[in-house]
Amino acid sequence: MRGRFISIEGGEAVGKSTQIRLLADALKASGRSVTVTREPGGTDSAEAIRALLLEGGADRWNVRSEALLFAAARADHVARLIRPAVEAGGWVLSDRFLDSSRAYQGVAGGLGDDAILDLHRFGSQGFLPDRTLLLELPADEAARRATVRDGGTSDRIGGRDAAYHAAVAQAFRTFAADHPDRFCLIDASGDSAAVHARIWHSIGPMLA
Ligand code: TMP
Repeated sequence: MRGRFISIEGGEAVGKSTQIRLLADALKASGRSVTVTREPGGTDSAEAIRALLLEGGADRWNVRSEALLFAAARADHVARLIRPAVEAGGWVLSDRFLDSSRAYQGVAGGLGDDAILDLHRFGSQGFLPDRTLLLELPADEAARRATVRDGGTSDRIGGRDAAYHAAVAQAFRTFAADHPDRFCLIDASGDSAAVHARIWHSIGPMLA
Protein backbone atom coordinates (compact mmCIF):
# COMPACT_ATOMS: atom_id res chain seq x y z
CA MET A 1 0.00 0.00 0.00
CA ARG A 2 1.26 3.45 -0.93
CA GLY A 3 1.99 5.78 1.99
CA ARG A 4 1.39 9.51 2.23
CA PHE A 5 3.51 12.58 1.62
CA ILE A 6 2.66 15.73 3.60
CA SER A 7 4.53 19.03 3.26
CA ILE A 8 4.40 21.72 5.92
CA GLU A 9 4.81 25.24 4.59
CA GLY A 10 4.73 28.81 5.81
CA GLY A 11 6.92 31.84 6.33
CA GLU A 12 9.77 32.17 8.82
CA ALA A 13 9.23 31.19 12.49
CA VAL A 14 5.62 30.03 12.19
CA GLY A 15 6.40 26.88 14.23
CA LYS A 16 6.81 24.29 11.48
CA SER A 17 9.49 22.16 13.12
CA THR A 18 7.65 21.90 16.45
CA GLN A 19 4.45 20.92 14.66
CA ILE A 20 6.18 18.34 12.47
CA ARG A 21 7.60 16.71 15.59
CA LEU A 22 4.18 16.60 17.28
CA LEU A 23 2.50 15.27 14.14
CA ALA A 24 5.17 12.60 13.65
CA ASP A 25 4.75 11.44 17.27
CA ALA A 26 0.97 11.23 16.88
CA LEU A 27 1.21 9.30 13.61
CA LYS A 28 3.75 6.88 15.12
CA ALA A 29 1.47 6.37 18.13
CA SER A 30 -1.28 5.42 15.67
CA GLY A 31 0.98 2.66 14.31
CA ARG A 32 2.25 4.33 11.13
CA SER A 33 5.81 4.33 9.88
CA VAL A 34 6.94 8.00 9.69
CA THR A 35 9.92 9.75 8.14
CA VAL A 36 10.56 13.38 9.08
CA THR A 37 12.63 15.39 6.66
CA ARG A 38 13.25 18.96 5.54
CA GLU A 39 14.11 21.17 2.60
CA PRO A 40 16.50 22.24 1.47
CA GLY A 41 18.09 18.99 2.62
CA GLY A 42 16.94 15.53 3.68
CA THR A 43 19.73 13.53 2.01
CA ASP A 44 23.51 13.91 2.34
CA SER A 45 23.79 15.53 -1.09
CA ALA A 46 20.84 17.85 -0.55
CA GLU A 47 22.17 18.84 2.90
CA ALA A 48 25.44 19.83 1.19
CA ILE A 49 23.43 22.04 -1.18
CA ARG A 50 21.56 23.48 1.85
CA ALA A 51 24.84 24.81 3.24
CA LEU A 52 25.62 26.44 -0.13
CA LEU A 53 22.20 28.07 -0.21
CA LEU A 54 21.84 29.31 3.35
CA GLU A 55 25.38 30.33 4.27
CA GLY A 56 27.43 33.19 2.93
CA GLY A 57 26.74 36.70 1.72
CA ALA A 58 23.42 38.00 0.48
CA ASP A 59 24.73 38.16 -3.11
CA ARG A 60 26.33 34.70 -3.14
CA TRP A 61 23.78 33.49 -5.73
CA ASN A 62 21.49 35.26 -8.13
CA VAL A 63 17.86 34.19 -8.11
CA ARG A 64 18.24 31.84 -11.09
CA SER A 65 21.16 29.91 -9.59
CA GLU A 66 19.29 29.86 -6.29
CA ALA A 67 16.19 28.30 -7.91
CA LEU A 68 18.34 25.72 -9.72
CA LEU A 69 20.10 24.73 -6.50
CA PHE A 70 16.79 24.30 -4.65
CA ALA A 71 15.48 22.20 -7.57
CA ALA A 72 18.68 20.10 -7.62
CA ALA A 73 18.47 19.45 -3.88
CA ARG A 74 14.79 18.54 -4.26
CA ALA A 75 15.48 16.14 -7.15
CA ASP A 76 17.87 14.15 -4.95
CA HIS A 77 15.51 14.33 -1.97
CA VAL A 78 12.52 13.03 -3.96
CA ALA A 79 14.43 10.29 -5.78
CA ARG A 80 16.41 8.93 -2.86
CA LEU A 81 14.24 9.51 0.17
CA ILE A 82 10.65 10.69 -0.33
CA ARG A 83 9.47 8.55 -3.23
CA PRO A 84 10.99 5.27 -1.94
CA ALA A 85 9.56 5.82 1.56
CA VAL A 86 6.06 6.57 0.23
CA GLU A 87 6.20 3.61 -2.15
CA ALA A 88 7.16 1.39 0.79
CA GLY A 89 3.94 2.47 2.55
CA GLY A 90 5.40 5.07 4.92
CA TRP A 91 4.29 8.57 5.81
CA VAL A 92 6.76 11.30 4.94
CA LEU A 93 6.53 14.72 6.58
CA SER A 94 8.67 17.41 5.00
CA ASP A 95 9.44 20.78 6.56
CA ARG A 96 9.01 22.77 3.30
CA PHE A 97 8.86 21.49 -0.29
CA LEU A 98 8.08 22.81 -3.79
CA ASP A 99 5.67 25.54 -2.64
CA SER A 100 8.56 27.26 -0.84
CA SER A 101 10.41 27.59 -4.16
CA ARG A 102 7.22 28.85 -5.81
CA ALA A 103 6.72 31.47 -3.06
CA TYR A 104 10.34 32.54 -2.37
CA GLN A 105 12.04 32.29 -5.78
CA GLY A 106 8.99 32.28 -8.06
CA VAL A 107 6.86 35.06 -6.60
CA ALA A 108 9.01 37.07 -4.13
CA GLY A 109 12.16 36.52 -6.23
CA GLY A 110 10.33 37.38 -9.47
CA LEU A 111 11.12 34.27 -11.56
CA GLY A 112 7.44 33.40 -11.98
CA ASP A 113 5.54 30.25 -11.12
CA ASP A 114 5.94 28.63 -14.55
CA ALA A 115 9.74 28.68 -14.31
CA ILE A 116 9.68 26.95 -10.92
CA LEU A 117 7.14 24.37 -12.08
CA ASP A 118 9.26 23.66 -15.19
CA LEU A 119 12.31 23.02 -13.01
CA HIS A 120 10.24 20.73 -10.82
CA ARG A 121 8.94 18.77 -13.81
CA PHE A 122 12.51 18.28 -15.01
CA GLY A 123 14.09 17.58 -11.62
CA SER A 124 11.40 15.59 -9.82
CA GLN A 125 8.88 14.52 -12.50
CA GLY A 126 6.41 16.97 -10.99
CA PHE A 127 6.09 14.90 -7.81
CA LEU A 128 3.59 16.59 -5.44
CA PRO A 129 2.52 16.17 -1.81
CA ASP A 130 -0.79 14.45 -1.06
CA ARG A 131 -1.48 17.28 1.40
CA THR A 132 0.17 20.60 2.21
CA LEU A 133 -0.37 22.16 5.62
CA LEU A 134 0.10 25.94 5.43
CA LEU A 135 0.83 27.41 8.85
CA GLU A 136 -0.27 31.00 9.08
CA LEU A 137 0.63 33.71 11.60
CA PRO A 138 0.18 37.49 11.48
CA ALA A 139 3.43 39.07 10.20
CA ASP A 140 4.19 40.92 13.46
CA GLU A 141 3.79 37.73 15.54
CA ALA A 142 6.06 35.79 13.13
CA ALA A 143 8.69 38.56 13.31
CA ARG A 144 8.53 38.52 17.13
CA ARG A 145 9.00 34.73 17.22
CA ALA A 146 11.88 34.96 14.71
CA THR A 147 13.67 37.45 16.97
CA VAL A 148 13.21 35.19 19.99
CA ARG A 149 14.36 32.11 18.01
CA ASP A 150 17.29 33.56 16.07
CA GLY A 151 18.28 36.39 18.41
CA GLY A 152 18.63 38.79 15.50
CA THR A 153 20.70 36.45 13.33
CA SER A 154 19.18 34.73 10.32
CA ASP A 155 20.30 32.83 7.22
CA ARG A 156 20.81 34.29 3.71
CA ILE A 157 17.13 33.99 2.83
CA GLY A 158 15.45 34.48 6.21
CA GLY A 159 17.33 37.78 6.50
CA ARG A 160 15.65 39.36 3.46
CA ASP A 161 13.49 42.45 4.02
CA ALA A 162 9.89 42.64 5.22
CA ALA A 163 8.54 43.31 1.72
CA TYR A 164 10.11 40.06 0.46
CA HIS A 165 8.57 38.07 3.34
CA ALA A 166 5.18 39.75 2.84
CA ALA A 167 5.27 38.67 -0.81
CA VAL A 168 6.10 35.11 0.30
CA ALA A 169 3.15 35.06 2.73
CA GLN A 170 0.78 36.41 0.09
CA ALA A 171 2.02 33.86 -2.45
CA PHE A 172 1.32 30.96 -0.07
CA ARG A 173 -2.23 32.26 0.49
CA THR A 174 -2.78 32.46 -3.27
CA PHE A 175 -1.53 28.88 -3.82
CA ALA A 176 -3.83 27.64 -1.06
CA ALA A 177 -6.81 29.39 -2.64
CA ASP A 178 -5.88 27.96 -6.08
CA HIS A 179 -5.51 24.37 -4.80
CA PRO A 180 -8.03 23.88 -1.98
CA ASP A 181 -7.92 20.12 -2.61
CA ARG A 182 -4.23 19.91 -1.66
CA PHE A 183 -3.80 22.75 0.86
CA CYS A 184 -5.08 22.99 4.43
CA LEU A 185 -4.76 26.38 6.10
CA ILE A 186 -3.75 26.09 9.74
CA ASP A 187 -4.01 28.96 12.23
CA ALA A 188 -0.55 28.81 13.87
CA SER A 189 -1.33 31.23 16.71
CA GLY A 190 -1.61 30.09 20.32
CA ASP A 191 0.32 27.36 22.07
CA SER A 192 1.81 24.39 20.28
CA ALA A 193 -0.74 21.90 21.67
CA ALA A 194 -3.62 23.96 20.28
CA VAL A 195 -1.96 24.20 16.86
CA HIS A 196 -1.26 20.47 16.88
CA ALA A 197 -4.94 19.76 17.63
CA ARG A 198 -5.93 21.84 14.57
CA ILE A 199 -3.47 19.92 12.39
CA TRP A 200 -4.60 16.53 13.69
CA HIS A 201 -8.21 17.45 12.99
CA SER A 202 -7.33 18.62 9.46
CA ILE A 203 -5.63 15.36 8.49
CA GLY A 204 -8.39 13.22 10.04
CA PRO A 205 -9.84 12.22 6.64
CA MET A 206 -6.43 10.88 5.54
CA LEU A 207 -6.32 8.53 8.53
CA ALA A 208 -9.49 6.68 7.69
P1 TMP B 1 14.06 26.85 7.04
O1 TMP B 1 14.60 28.05 7.74
O2 TMP B 1 12.59 26.67 7.17
O3 TMP B 1 14.85 25.61 7.31
O4 TMP B 1 14.24 27.12 5.45
C1 TMP B 1 15.41 27.59 4.95
C2 TMP B 1 15.23 28.87 4.18
O5 TMP B 1 15.20 28.56 2.78
C3 TMP B 1 13.97 29.68 4.47
O6 TMP B 1 14.33 31.05 4.52
C4 TMP B 1 13.11 29.44 3.24
C5 TMP B 1 14.11 29.20 2.15
N1 TMP B 1 13.65 28.35 1.04
C6 TMP B 1 13.53 28.91 -0.23
O7 TMP B 1 13.78 30.10 -0.41
N2 TMP B 1 13.12 28.09 -1.25
C7 TMP B 1 12.86 26.76 -1.09
O8 TMP B 1 12.52 26.06 -2.05
C8 TMP B 1 13.00 26.20 0.23
C9 TMP B 1 12.74 24.75 0.45
C10 TMP B 1 13.40 27.03 1.27
